[in-house]
Amino acid sequence: MHPFDPGYAHAPYADLVSTYPGPETYPPQDFRVEWGPIFHRGRLDGSARVLVLGQDPAAHEAITRRVLVGVAGRRFQGFLSKLGIDTSYVLINTFLYSVYGQHAGNTHATDPNIARYRHTWLDALVTHNQIEAVIALGGLADTAFHTWRTAPGNAAYDGAYAHILHPTYPDSAAASGADGAVAMKQLTTSWNNALTTLRATVTPDTEHPFTPYGDALTPAELDAIPEADLTPGLPAWMRSDEPWAARQGTTAAEKRATICVQVPEDQRPF
Ligand code: URA
Repeated sequence: MHPFDPGYAHAPYADLVSTYPGPETYPPQDFRVEWGPIFHRGRLDGSARVLVLGQDPAAHEAITRRVLVGVAGRRFQGFLSKLGIDTSYVLINTFLYSVYGQHAGNTHATDPNIARYRHTWLDALVTHNQIEAVIALGGLADTAFHTWRTAPGNAAYDGAYAHILHPTYPDSAAASGADGAVAMKQLTTSWNNALTTLRATVTPDTEHPFTPYGDALTPAELDAIPEADLTPGLPAWMRSDEPWAARQGTTAAEKRATICVQVPEDQRPF
């Protein structure tokens, strides 16, 4: 048996995916609109108890058409697992399209036109599920959550809320000159604190004792993306531990237009 994500055939999601904003709302100088919108990952059948707000899709997500499936997704899947949540989650991003350029995300953090459509998803998800906790990954997702809560007329939500460091925070901190090990420890501290609080609120799918993170994420603390979260027939290596998609090009324009997909060596039949 190969479980799969049945997609967006039913209300309210059928309407949401047929009315998404395009370049009139997401300016192409700030977003890679040419790769299309990427909406969600996880349950749309009313069974989600944890709602997650990520940031924006990257190369792996552009191919699988589901959010948080690359390294950020696998790190966070491990967090969900420590929370005891194996299936009862739904994830969306702050931005439907991949952010282009260093400052574009901040520029559009409270953009009301972008927020309007995001709010329709958040409203639908809290209305059609029994959400016990919302988790925001990183500062832009935190801003998106508060923008939603303070905007008039949005759906009621009185469950728990946690803002944690984004799963790839250590990588971006190290890339801008910070000590990678210190940044990693900040991440695991942030995640341990949130897990301690959330475990008191969230009903687990599987009850198990809490093993906190150490100073760094171990390979065993990265979980595989469940097959049931992806569209039918996607090869198993698209859920594997190795990166298999990367932007490539010798000019900025070529790199923006090209994603190279390669089957990882140990996943090839010959
Ligand atoms: N991929 C996503 O879909 N969201 C993130 O926040 C990071 C990577």
